[in-house]
This record gives sequence, C-alpha cells and structure tokens, in this order.
Amino acid sequence: MTSDASLLGLRGLDRAAITSILDRADALLPAVAGAPVADAGSRVSAVVGLVFLEDSTRTRCSFETAVHRLGHRPVVLSGRGSSASKGESLRDTAANLAAMGLDALVVRCSQAGGPRIVREATGLPVVNAGDGRHEHPTQGLLDLSTLRSRLGSLEGRRILIVGDVLNSRVARSNLHGLSTLGAQIVLVGPPSLVPWRLADLAPNIVVSHDLDAVLETADAVMMLRIQRERDAGRAVAADYRQAFGMTTARAATLPDGVPILHPGPVNRGVELDDGVLDDPTRSLVLDQVRRGVSIRMAVLERALAAAGGSS
Ligand code: NCD
Repeated sequence: MTSDASLLGLRGLDRAAITSILDRADALLPAVAGAPVADAGSRVSAVVGLVFLEDSTRTRCSFETAVHRLGHRPVVLSGRGSSASKGESLRDTAANLAAMGLDALVVRCSQAGGPRIVREATGLPVVNAGDGRHEHPTQGLLDLSTLRSRLGSLEGRRILIVGDVLNSRVARSNLHGLSTLGAQIVLVGPPSLVPWRLADLAPNIVVSHDLDAVLETADAVMMLRIQRERDAGRAVAADYRQAFGMTTARAATLPDGVPILHPGPVNRGVELDDGVLDDPTRSLVLDQVRRGVSIRMAVLERALAAAGGSS
C-alpha cells in the first residue's frame, strides 16, 4: 500500500481532500447512467468486500453499483446469514475476509469505531458506510455534492439540519464536512434530540429549538429520520410533525429555490409530508441517491489506488 486512503469519517478531512473527492465524483456522474468511466487509467480489477452488519437499502446498493460501474467485483456479507449471527466478532470477520485476498472493505455496523478496528486488524483500505451514531462519511459527501450542485460554493451558506441530530451519524459527518467548507450550520429540533452542547462539535454551528424562527434564513434544509432503533422514539413528542416536520404548509413559507434534502429512509408524514417529498422543485432526495453512486465510485477509486488496485 502506498498510502492509507481509508475513509473513516469527515472529521479531520481537509478542504482539499473533500474538494478533490467532490470534483472527481462530478466527473464520474455520467458513469452512474452507464457512460464509460472518465480517465479510468489502466485498472487492475479488484474485489471489494461490502460488510453490512446493519440494515441498508441505499448505501449497500449504491456501493455495490459503484463497484460494478468501476469494473471491479463486490463480495457482499450481511449480518443475517453470516457468522456474525453466531457471535463472530467484527475483527475476526474482517481478518478472515482479508485472508481471502480482498483488496478493500466497506463496513457498516452498529459499533461506533468498528471501521477503524477493521482497518487496524487487516491493514486494508476501509470505507466507513455508517458506524452506530458516529459517522457516515459517504452520505456526508453525497450531501455536500448535492448542495454544491444547487448552491455553488458553500462558503457562508446557511444550512439547517433538522430532527434527530443526537442519534444521527449523517448529521455528524455533515457538520464536519459543511464546517470545513465554510458553511454556517443551524441544528434544529427538540432539546431532547438537539441539546445545546452539540454546538461544540465543530466551528460555525448554532442550535435552535424553533424551526419556524430560523426557516426564512435558510439556503437549504436537511431533514433527518427519527432513529427509533437507537431509542429516539421515546424522546419524541406526539406533536413532533407540527413542530419540526416539513409539512406542506411549512414548506410553502420557505423562500423560492431553497432545496430540501433527506438521507432516507423517510418516515412519510413525520419528517416530510408526501407533497414535499414528491415536489421536484424542492426535494433533492433522488438527486442525493444518484450522486451517492458517483461519490462512492470516487471514494473507492481513491482507496484502491492506495492499495495498488488501479493506477
Ligand atoms: C442513513 C443511515 O443509515 O445512517 N441512511 C442512509 O444511509 N441513507 C440515515 C438513516 O437511517 O436515518
């Protein structure tokens, strides 16, 4: 390996590294629809392990598609149906995959820090596909890519992140990435899900418990799913939608052109009303999904180049 191009989080990734991944992903966007990969160089076909020990729809299919579009081959392992269900540790699972000669690993797990353990156990390049409440860096990058395509430079732009920030690895990656690119971040939600202390996580963050009070200042609004599997349900009041949901009535008060994002899966009628999610002038949700593939292609290229898998 020439250098470690693992991607464990956006915390600590500098502006140049983020921008270079975003730029490469833009160049790869036509390949998402099947066009030849731009500037592919001379590739050696690699085998990429996709270790998904937590449920996933978008992220897993997106990584798998990215591997195929790059001309590599995926080996997919999920929690159910693997020896993880017999109690095998993440470290042992990873060491066994490395012994099979895999070139890189993509890891999703409920354990914060799991991808770092895998990197240390195997020495392979590792991409974090979401670890507990910690980070989800490729989601953060695809959100940055989507925002940049709509807003241009993010310097000084005001991005609202609304909902279950406390339990969200998506929010955590986004606030590091947005902060590094110079955006202003407003974290919005009930005090149980958006405590004041979250403002200390990165520069340029403020906290608000009143969505309507900050809505008119937004350049973009990112809604988050209530993480019921991480116990957030208990902290959410019955009137959550009225206070913090992007209802049709609330969306109508947003200035024209302010886009709405959501990482999925959406709880329709809780975080977003049907009419908002399905409004192509407002909702960037499917553009996020499309860009997810190009971002993962760019991140995998970077990881495999370091491992000697392509030139
Ligand atoms: C997110 C996740 O799993 O962290 N989903 C995704 O990867 N698109 C967000 C969520 O589950 O709420």
